[in-house]
Amino acid sequence: MKRALTPGTFDPITSGHLDVIARASQLVDEVVIAVADSQKKGPLFTLEERVELVRQATAHLSNVRVEPFKGLLVDFAKELDATVVVKGLRAITDFEYEFQMTAMNYQLSPQLETLFIMSPPQYMYLSSSIVREISKMGGDIQQFVPPCVYEALKRKYANLQ
Ligand code: COA
Repeated sequence: MKRALTPGTFDPITSGHLDVIARASQLVDEVVIAVADSQKKGPLFTLEERVELVRQATAHLSNVRVEPFKGLLVDFAKELDATVVVKGLRAITDFEYEFQMTAMNYQLSPQLETLFIMSPPQYMYLSSSIVREISKMGGDIQQFVPPCVYEALKRKYANLQ
């Protein structure tokens, strides 16, 4: 059984993340989406809200499940018996940071392989913070996020006003 982790903060999950997750699900037996606590990022959505949105957005993918995690990614991979981490690579600006994280994870756990999937052009410059900003200012983000996230963002900003 080949199990992969797709880790991230998912604040919130976007169509770019979904594209990477769907493609990863074709490559392995099971994908576990590891939703990081990421408190230091001061996320807009709570960990529970982010997990629930990821669950709803990926409900159509039969070999994908969602788990929250705190602590080191390499420890969580060991706990779940996952041997691969799959991440999306967007513009070249991602490279330096991803390179550093991959190198550190490799030092901590050499058996854990990291694979990168290139984002398609329409998602190259997409990020959760851009989606949050556009939504906050009343812009239309429907093409960038799954319907549950579109509704959740509208509710969140309506409640914060
Ligand atoms: N499509 C759209 N956006 C994407 C994307 C994709 N395919 N891939 C990444 N992004 C965006 C995210 O939306 C996010 O955007 P934002 O900063 O504007 O909000 C940004 O890229 C960063 O994503 P994030 O989910 O925060 O991931 P990260 O690459 O910063 O890593 C963890 C998060 C959880 C994987 C990492 O912090 C981790 O492993 N934490 C555990 C602690 C640990 O092990 N630390 C040691 C690591 S060496």
